[in-house]
Amino acid sequence: MPSRISRDEAWSLLTDWVQSPSLRRHCLAVSYAMQAYAARDAGSIAPPDEDVELWAVTGLLHDADYERFPDMDDQERGHPRTIMAELESRDAPPEMIRAIASHADFLGVPPESPMEHTLVAVDELCGFLVACAQVRPEGIHGLTPKSVKKKLKQPSFAAAVNRDDVRAGAEHLGIDFDEHVAFVVAALEAQADALDLHGHASAAE
Ligand SMILES: [Fe+2]
Repeated sequence: MPSRISRDEAWSLLTDWVQSPSLRRHCLAVSYAMQAYAARDAGSIAPPDEDVELWAVTGLLHDADYERFPDMDDQERGHPRTIMAELESRDAPPEMIRAIASHADFLGVPPESPMEHTLVAVDELCGFLVACAQVRPEGIHGLTPKSVKKKLKQPSFAAAVNRDDVRAGAEHLGIDFDEHVAFVVAALEAQADALDLHGHASAAE
């Protein structure tokens, strides 16, 4: 029987391996987006609580080894191989490990399950939404799909974010792009305290 990895255990592993505040925030953002999608779909897939926690923890740990082993060409330890090996050694659920493999397209493990498609769908989008929120006085509040799409068309803005991956996200989920963006914005907005996404307006008060 695989053992559950609790959120506390996952957070402790993440903060042990990742010192960068922005990478920690990215992992948290992906975790919250995964959690929101799991809660939305719960009931049709698995027992709700178990499902939500599994999805959240998978999101939290998907990039946990990126700071230590960013060289994806390192076939032995390069991201995400080290976190996958660590989770295997902890007897984590195989679906968590497979999902982490499937978000790294160079590993040749195509996303198949709803959790895998969701991870791929929210990963780059979360990075982009956090970048958008950071340059707005209102932070994540009031960020609309329309303004997100406008920013996507500016190649110099958050240039590291892969636009094709962001746009393909909604296709992975089989939903409309605007609906996907609005859903993830709402998921991040609900956690704006933890993600520090209230913007400069509140910081200046
Ligand atoms: Fe990521």
